[in-house]
Amino acid sequence: MLRGLPMLSERSWPLRVFLTYVGLGIAWIVLSDRVLLGLGLSPQQITQLQGLKGTAFVLLSGLLVFELTRRFQAAQERGRRELVRSEQMYRTLARDLPKGAVFLFDHDLRFLLAEGQGLAEAGLRREDLEGRTLSEAVPASAPYLEPLYRAALAGETRTDVREYRGAHYKVVVQPVRDAGGKVWAGLAVGYDVSEMVEAQQALRQRAELEGNFRRLFEENPLPMWVYDRESHRFLEVNRAAVQTYGYSREEFLGMTLLDIRPPEEVGRLQANLAQPRQEHESSGPWRHRLKDGREIWVEIASHVHTYAGRPAVLVTAKDVTRQVESQRALQASERRFRALVENAPDAISLLDPQGNIVFDTPASTRILGYSQEERLGQNAFELVHPEDLAATREVFGRVLERPGGLGSALMRFRHKDGSWRWLEAIASNLLLEPSVGGVVVNFRDVTERKQAEEAVLALNARLEQRVGELEALQKIDQAILNREGMADIAALILRETLEHLEVEAAALYRFDAAAEELEYVGGQGFRGSGLARKRVRLGQGLLGGVARRLEPLEVPDIWAAGADSPRVETFREEGLVGYAAVPVLAGGRLQGVLEAFRRAPLHLGAGDRAFLKALANQAGVALAHAELLAGLERANAELHSAYDHTIEALAAAIDLRDHETENHSRRVTELTLELARRMGMGPEELRQVRRGALLHDVGKLAVPDAVLLKPGKLTEEEWAEMKKHPVLAYEWLSQIPFLAPALEIPYAHHERWDGTGYPRGLGGEEIPLAARVFAVVDVYDALTSDRPYRAAWSQEKTLRYLQEQAGTHFDPAVVEAFLGMIDRERERAG
Ligand code: C2E
Ligand code: SIN
Ligand code: SIN
Ligand code: FE
Ligand code: FE
Repeated sequence: MLRGLPMLSERSWPLRVFLTYVGLGIAWIVLSDRVLLGLGLSPQQITQLQGLKGTAFVLLSGLLVFELTRRFQAAQERGRRELVRSEQMYRTLARDLPKGAVFLFDHDLRFLLAEGQGLAEAGLRREDLEGRTLSEAVPASAPYLEPLYRAALAGETRTDVREYRGAHYKVVVQPVRDAGGKVWAGLAVGYDVSEMVEAQQALRQRAELEGNFRRLFEENPLPMWVYDRESHRFLEVNRAAVQTYGYSREEFLGMTLLDIRPPEEVGRLQANLAQPRQEHESSGPWRHRLKDGREIWVEIASHVHTYAGRPAVLVTAKDVTRQVESQRALQASERRFRALVENAPDAISLLDPQGNIVFDTPASTRILGYSQEERLGQNAFELVHPEDLAATREVFGRVLERPGGLGSALMRFRHKDGSWRWLEAIASNLLLEPSVGGVVVNFRDVTERKQAEEAVLALNARLEQRVGELEALQKIDQAILNREGMADIAALILRETLEHLEVEAAALYRFDAAAEELEYVGGQGFRGSGLARKRVRLGQGLLGGVARRLEPLEVPDIWAAGADSPRVETFREEGLVGYAAVPVLAGGRLQGVLEAFRRAPLHLGAGDRAFLKALANQAGVALAHAELLAGLERANAELHSAYDHTIEALAAAIDLRDHETENHSRRVTELTLELARRMGMGPEELRQVRRGALLHDVGKLAVPDAVLLKPGKLTEEEWAEMKKHPVLAYEWLSQIPFLAPALEIPYAHHERWDGTGYPRGLGGEEIPLAARVFAVVDVYDALTSDRPYRAAWSQEKTLRYLQEQAGTHFDPAVVEAFLGMIDRERERAG
């Protein structure tokens, strides 16, 4: 029952009764007497009526009170019935409300009604609420509920969700109005919406997740797509895919996986797609084709899932073009490198620190005859020649001393066929180099070179001799030029013969054409004067035979040969055994005979023979000169050509020794002459230039092999040795007066325009022009040729270098003329 329900209509009833009654009373008092007076009645009649009037008032007011009371009761009854109906309604409603409760409260915030299954769950009891105010019944919730309740009482409807004791409640408050529209109470309904809230939260989270996934997919920097597992059609693609492949999203969705491959990859892809699928798979690298036709390499991560109810695959593609290409480049370079190593003419072995061979190139089989398998078992020192072993080990030991250590050695090594081969080896310590991890030995067979060197060595000895001989010839030349007497010249020739040849006596005879006899001119080394007294007829004996045949003759032992000579007595007296003779010719005519004797058997070398001939030539010139002063000019020319032939032979010997510079002297001489001519030199100067150029490196004859033929950079001491060669040339040649004018080139060809050259450090025009001209040609030829210490440069590179060096190393004017000359030559060559 709703108790103490304060009804607004009920409260106004007493006032209504009071006002009606007072209104009626006053109206009665004012109006009733006026009505009576107005009727014009007599006072007696009025007095009579006065009593009646009182009775009528009582009756009338009684009737009024009755009516009012009856209405009040009816209204109250109607209200009560209405209330009962609404209470029942609320309670029924509340009971039907699962997990909820309904509250009705009045303007004092006093609960009029509290009902519902939710009360117990919220820890409340109906009895504790009904009749109590909000703050009495639920003080803890009052601060939250009060504003809501008041809003309802003020006519508003409010809804809120409130967390209370671990659950979510939806609270709805609204006004309750009476028939007149006045708010007489507030209604609050609360029910548990926890499940709904949770469901909503789950929904929200799911949406969030989906959004995250979409973003992940869409914003992923890697191209991604989803394709249909049956049709292989693209179902989704992300932005990166669109950007990378160049197709728009719409174009993509109209294509299948096959459309982004080069045709030759399609088969491989189809095979892959036909395979049973793991849930997650990686594959690749695949080649994909972009819209613009370019191709890239990608690695694929795929993930089987369902898309719009269909089996699909989610794919992430990673562009690995750079890696794939760099790997391919690496493989190509490795192949190239391998081909290089395997085809190199020099062999390369990799040794461990004990000298065991751990790797070997095919060239070593070619050089040493052992198969690869045999080599790999070998120790490098096992087959080194015993005489070279200590030195080889020492070099190897030094190489081992520090990482990067280098060393070179020349040693004999036993070929499989048992022969000894000379090997030139360069070892470098790459033990710490992770990709090598050993000592790399580069070696080549230099047996032939070694043999050639030995030959050159022998030649060198002879060369020294020939230089001396040259001097001799020059002295005679000088004597002739000085117009000394024939006797003096003959004495000189004979002295030089004895000095430079292994002979003990020599004689010069003059041919007397008129008498057809040979006349003694002079002799040296004889004990007596037996020969001087005898003239010998043409054709008679050894001497006459030489004069007739015009051929040199050598008889190692005249007694063994059964000498038949008019002078045989004298020979016996003198104790002569070995004999050599050369006809003395001038202009093709017989002038006389030069004879040499030895008191032991005689064996001339080729050089001796040549020298004897040269002396005979000199003698011829001298004799002709003496005889025919008018013929001097021609004789002189012959003399020079004899010199020049000798010089050429010498130059060839220099080149032979410095074997890498074969023909270097001849080539530089020709180029230098041409350049010098272009620079305006006359015939006499050119003659000296020619000799100087031919002999420019004559000083290198004195440089030891180890330095001259060294395959690598020179040490400081070696360099000092090398730098001596212009000075040595100077010392040598300056003693030969006819070569002195040709000295400029040998002496100054390593001077530099900027003064930094050697040996004198001359600068600019202090350097003789011939040497400045020659220096350009020499360096040009040196750089374009292989040297033991480096490979030849190209012509382009060399010319560029010369140009760079103009003004520092070289006279710029000479470089300019030289470049012009080379240009012209190249034009001519086409
Ligand atoms: P060469 O080999 O006949 O060289 C003559 C000149 O050409 C050298 O004079 C130098 O000016 C120039 N030339 C030759 N090769 C090169 C090069 O690779 N680079 C440059 N920039 N210039 C080069 P240089 O330098 O006074 O040498 C005189 C001689 O010393 C050379 O005659 C050669 O026999 C010898 N020599 C020079 N450097 C080395 C070396 O590193 N090792 C060995 N074993 N000998 C050397
Ligand atoms: C693709 O290359 O596009 C996907 C292939 C795969 O799923 O393995
Ligand atoms: C070799 O046979 O590999 C050369 C020997 C060496 O120099 O150690
Ligand atoms: Fe030189
Ligand atoms: Fe040279």
